[in-house]
Amino acid sequence: MKVLGINGSLRRDSLNLKLLKAAGDYFSENVEFEILSLGDIPLYNQDLDGDNKPAAVVNLKQKISDADALVFATPEFNHSIPGALQNAIDWASRPAFNSPLTGKATGMLSASMSPIGGARAQAQLHTVMASALAPIFPSIEYLLGSAHTVFDASGAMTDETAATRLERYIKGFEEWLQQGG
Ligand SMILES: Cc1cc2nc3c(=O)[nH]c(=O)nc-3n(C[C@H](O)[C@H](O)[C@H](O)COP(=O)(O)O)c2cc1C
Repeated sequence: MKVLGINGSLRRDSLNLKLLKAAGDYFSENVEFEILSLGDIPLYNQDLDGDNKPAAVVNLKQKISDADALVFATPEFNHSIPGALQNAIDWASRPAFNSPLTGKATGMLSASMSPIGGARAQAQLHTVMASALAPIFPSIEYLLGSAHTVFDASGAMTDETAATRLERYIKGFEEWLQQGG
């Protein structure tokens, strides 16, 4: 099974990237987990969304199509998801009703320096992915609050409670995928 991790942050030292990497460690050996960066995707323009799409967009759509499931990790920007993430989803969501996102099993995580861990961004992402007709893992949300305090210099998650909750989320997600997502 292939799972594609998508980071909503473009930042080199992204806490959400660390979170995605930590999440990847909890999948079983039956899962091939790859993380995609959204850094090179141009702004959505319907004039470019024809037969000759930008290469980064072709790659994005192909990676999503090839994956059995997606796991997003997103920061919260101004109580919503970052523009880069919304933009990538906009590209991937076309053609409506028959896009690479249609029916794609989806999990979501969020990390923020605030104590509420990007809860508002994750709620927004839920709405956006529902609009793209993606089934979303029915679970208590995984919100990583005060995320700047839970990783060591090597990127390892040192907060045991956060790690246990992440393991539970990812193992539950994989079980859900095995049952058909
Ligand atoms: C433009 C901008 C807006 C932000 N707005 C919020 C916000 O509304 N809520 C929040 O919890 N954090 C907010 N933050 C803080 C980010 O969640 C925090 O920087 C986080 O670490 C970014 O994720 P990353 O480490 O994966 O890059 C904002 C940061 C930026 C740059």
